[in-house]
Amino acid sequence: MSGRIANAALAAKVMSADDAAAFIRHGMIVGMSGFTGSGYPKAVPTALAARIGRERDAGHPMRVRVWTGASTGPELDGELARVDGIELRLPYNSDPIARKKINNGEMEYVDMHLSQVAPMAWEGFLGELDIAVVEISGIREDGSLIPSSSVGNNKTWLDRAKGVILEVNRWQSASLEGMHDVYYGTALPPDRKPIQITRPDDRIGQAYFNCDPDKILAIVETDGPDRNLPFAAPDHCARDIAGHLLEFFTHEVKKGRLPPSLLPLQSGVGNIANAVLEGLVNSPFESMTSYTEVIQDGMLSLLDSGKLRMASATAFSLSPDAAARLNDNMPRYRDKMILRPQEISNHPEVIRRLGCIAMNGLIEADIYGSVNSTHIMGSYIQNGIGGSGDFARNAYISVFMTPSVAKNGAISAIVPQVPHVDHIPQDVQIIVTEQGLADLRGLSPKQRANVIINNCAHPDYRPALADYFRRANDTSYGKHAPVLLNEALSWHARYLETGSMRL
Ligand code: COA
Repeated sequence: MSGRIANAALAAKVMSADDAAAFIRHGMIVGMSGFTGSGYPKAVPTALAARIGRERDAGHPMRVRVWTGASTGPELDGELARVDGIELRLPYNSDPIARKKINNGEMEYVDMHLSQVAPMAWEGFLGELDIAVVEISGIREDGSLIPSSSVGNNKTWLDRAKGVILEVNRWQSASLEGMHDVYYGTALPPDRKPIQITRPDDRIGQAYFNCDPDKILAIVETDGPDRNLPFAAPDHCARDIAGHLLEFFTHEVKKGRLPPSLLPLQSGVGNIANAVLEGLVNSPFESMTSYTEVIQDGMLSLLDSGKLRMASATAFSLSPDAAARLNDNMPRYRDKMILRPQEISNHPEVIRRLGCIAMNGLIEADIYGSVNSTHIMGSYIQNGIGGSGDFARNAYISVFMTPSVAKNGAISAIVPQVPHVDHIPQDVQIIVTEQGLADLRGLSPKQRANVIINNCAHPDYRPALADYFRRANDTSYGKHAPVLLNEALSWHARYLETGSMRL
């Protein structure tokens, strides 16, 4: 026994992952913990996948529906998708095997705003949750559960599931205890109350999960690390994007439209978002805060530099090196961080009240500022909308950033029209590429087009975009947001025809 289970009655429920996985049956809905490679169960999904593989070989196909917080790790999504064990999955996925199955039409995927998953589970819109499989870092004497490196939807899964399987992971730092803020005040309309967060550092909940001990079917002890990928060192493109953004923030502070400590930062996933955070380390801004979804490496660097005062999120999304740094120094970081349920970290009301600065990645944007964050060529899902919609719509300033070209320059990230829209122009105020920054606030569609083409498009694609826009202006049915209906998506069709885009 690891010493992480202080409740004697619950310690008696410890069993092997195989025995625990046996509680999960064909057709069940299973709510798993996990958010961007942190805090997901590692042993039970692997054991379940092995069993599904054996059943399949014996001629008994077995599939489950999987709900999570967001993306998880290879032991969960990867293993289960590999054996075709997932019938339907929600929400955000970034696992390559699951992505392939989804895009081959072999697995159903419901891509949702991350703030809406828990409320919709409570509202009963998603079905009945059979079993929760949740990683925690310990069990207290009174039976309350110490969360691990992500909170995600765990509170909701523990409350809603008919049966609960816990993985107690001793790899997670024991010093995580006290960092979490689990809010138990949510209710359904018409009884919803305001979420009383007026500063990113406000705590409104408790540090532990409650769980009815009678529902706990099994406890499995584990010691595996979270699996997040290392970030790439910022290249010139990421550094240029960060540079444009820092210049913009400096200008906004000078104009009195942002305070000198900026406003709470939300930073999306990926290398560019991380590079922007690293860039802020050498910026003039002091005493910054963050109200975001994940704490990634750049956020730790900002905390280390003293420029960032505190960070609120729902999960860590750290490279292996940064995760080790955090675990080794947890007591030092603990008071500067809060992990909350994702319905609170991404709560539209709180984001609007705090005035977050949202910074998210995109796949492509069109000349009017509609953004496609999810579907390559309009139909192939890369990851999902994640929390970008929660933040973009409600932010004080909503920024989207991308290199101006993809696939070594064969594809322009600025196009006449996006073939899939995640963010409408009203939710997109700033677009930044390595070429420059387009400030779209207060601009009409045609004014936006000029700024986006001239400031953000790669010079190789600017003439073709300008030519399209000019011809659209001449012949379009309406002149408010001119479009050439037969031509708007021809760029994407050409990419597929010429082989620039091989799937
Ligand atoms: N056309 C075709 N393919 C494109 C493309 C385009 N315009 N832009 C990117 N791609 C391809 C890349 O080539 C890459 O393909 P590969 O994996 O085969 O090499 C893939 O898409 C991912 O691109 P990459 O540049 O590595 O992405 P990233 O790590 O910078 O992430 C997003 C960009 C948009 C995928 C990512 O930010 C995302 O998933 N966003 C949505 C969710 C979100 O915003 N979450 C945060 C909210 S809190």
